[in-house]
Amino acid sequence: SMLKAKPLTQAWRGPLPFELPPLVRRTSSAVTRGATLANQVAVVTGSTKGIGFAIARRLAQDGAHVVVSSRKQQNVDQAVVELQGEGLSVSGTVCHVGKAEDREPGGHGALKHCGGVDFLICVAGVNPLVGGILGSSEQVWDKMLNVTVKAPALLLTQLLPHMEKRKGGSMILISSVGAYMPYSKLRAYNVSKTALLGLTKALAVELAPKNIRVNCLVPGVIDTAFSQVVFEDPSLWTYMKALCGTQRVGQPEDCAGIVSFLCSSDASYITAESIMVAGCSFHL
Ligand SMILES: NC(=O)c1ccc[n+]([C@@H]2O[C@H](COP(=O)([O-])OP(=O)(O)OC[C@H]3O[C@@H](n4cnc5c(N)ncnc54)[C@H](OP(=O)(O)O)[C@@H]3O)[C@@H](O)[C@H]2O)c1
Ligand SMILES: *[C@@H]1O[C@H](CO)[C@@H](O)[C@H](O)[C@H]1NC(C)=O
Ligand SMILES: *[C@@H]1O[C@H](CO)[C@@H](O)[C@H](O)[C@H]1NC(C)=O
Repeated sequence: SMLKAKPLTQAWRGPLPFELPPLVRRTSSAVTRGATLANQVAVVTGSTKGIGFAIARRLAQDGAHVVVSSRKQQNVDQAVVELQGEGLSVSGTVCHVGKAEDREPGGHGALKHCGGVDFLICVAGVNPLVGGILGSSEQVWDKMLNVTVKAPALLLTQLLPHMEKRKGGSMILISSVGAYMPYSKLRAYNVSKTALLGLTKALAVELAPKNIRVNCLVPGVIDTAFSQVVFEDPSLWTYMKALCGTQRVGQPEDCAGIVSFLCSSDASYITAESIMVAGCSFHL
């Protein structure tokens, strides 16, 4: 009968009882600003897994061409295949940041085709669990300082001519919440991460005349393979919770948006800054 409700599909057949706005109107004009990093090139070290991988993916999603790298060819290939499979513009190269030959732009072969570098993001780090200061051997110190502190500065020196071909640039170092707080088992690591805060300030001043900004990302506990050793020591997590009410462990993606922002022109007046992504913060 007439009173019987029509199935929905039938009810919607025929002209709609109202006018839909034209399709273009439903996409805000803001999408033209979506690719904030279009036509720019990013080099991200230690980017085949974890935080570096999430950063590489985000920078590419925001329009940059990204050169991913790490020590192992197999990991590089895997990361490149995965990101290219998502339709992203990436290339890859092996780069152990502690090895001089790998830091040469030749080692970053992909760069030759890029016409310059806009962003250098130094994510590669050293496994943190090396014990106390007094127990750390000279070799541990060398490795820690080589990879964490010296490598970003030396890599920058190598890539600077490529960065100077562009209008300006952005460098981002990755420190750690450990830079601010003494925790028994991570001391040499923490000291190397504290040094990065100083390196950020010093490089920012030195590179300002070249219009290259230098900032520092300071992650808290982020869920990656690297931090599993930290999770194995529950006292750290208990400490973080008690000290600053941190409610959850961070994910690599939590670190990615801020890096994209710091590279973007929206951050063009931000340099020498360090920003915690830790579910808490120790700055005033
Ligand atoms: N996860 C955390 O809770 C946390 C907190 C604060 C700070 N951070 C910092 O964030 C950075 C990344 O950590 P993550 O947790 O993302 O680690 P992850 O998941 O273990 O990934 C590390 C990545 O770096 C590469 N890598 C390691 N040593 C390298 C070297 N010498 N040269 C070049 N690439 C290297 C690894 O690939 P290959 O094995 O192929 O080299 C991998 O792609 C580190 O600097 C770490 O200190 C992490
Ligand atoms: C640290 O770097 C120096 C200078 O390049 C090198 O001689 C040394 O072997 C490196 N040490 C480690 C442990 O990586
Ligand atoms: C090292 O880092 C952890 C967190 O990553 C922190 O809790 C600890 O206090 C730091 N220790 C130092 C500087 O020895």
